[in-house]
Amino acid sequence: MTSIEVRPEQDSDREAVFRINERAFGGPDEARLVDRLRTQADPMISLVAESDGQPAGHILFTPVAIEDSSKPGQVPAMGLAPMAVDPQFQRQGIGSQLVRAGLDVCLGIDRPVVFVLGHPEYYPRFGFRPAAPLGLHFQDHSFDHAFMVAELKPGALQGRRGWVRYLPAFEEV
Ligand SMILES: CC(C)(COP(=O)(O)OP(=O)(O)OC[C@H]1O[C@@H](n2cnc3c(N)ncnc32)[C@H](O)[C@@H]1OP(=O)(O)O)[C@@H](O)C(=O)NCCC(=O)NCCS
Repeated sequence: MTSIEVRPEQDSDREAVFRINERAFGGPDEARLVDRLRTQADPMISLVAESDGQPAGHILFTPVAIEDSSKPGQVPAMGLAPMAVDPQFQRQGIGSQLVRAGLDVCLGIDRPVVFVLGHPEYYPRFGFRPAAPLGLHFQDHSFDHAFMVAELKPGALQGRRGWVRYLPAFEEV
């Protein structure tokens, strides 16, 4: 039986992580984004999934800010992006293990709010729900159908509403 292990990325994984993102997305844009984010993100959660010891998937979480002018301070939030599973390893549950492990780490570092812009059919199984009905939006309303949020602790959003800003690296994609 295939063994899947999810673990923190190490320096020696850089090349494999680049290739996984490049192959999964069919081009280097997201792979380059990952490298740019390494210089901007703090904290950064970067996990690698190994299939029988071979790097097969990668997931990244970086800080985001909710611009809510009606309330002072910030709730500690992260954005899940990008996530990639090498096409030869897709549909074996690796992506799901990466998401679940990543959400556990977010909770563990006290970042109980996580956003994702992604496939609306895929992420609800991990606790994500549409963000727009809560008054939370990414860039402009054309993204509302795919923009989701997970509260890893009940009430973690504390009623925050507004635009959700990712790190500048995302604007260069
Ligand atoms: C999305 C991705 C990470 C999923 O990884 P995975 O290891 O295949 O995921 P799992 O095996 O855990 O889950 C497979 C499920 O993902 C769903 N899925 C995969 N790609 C999907 C897509 N484009 N739209 C909707 N659902 C998708 C499948 O429907 C499948 O669900 P099912 O098991 O109910 O049939 C992988 O397909 C990938 O790297 N895709 C290309 C890059 C990408 O789109 N990244 C995500 C950006 S939001």
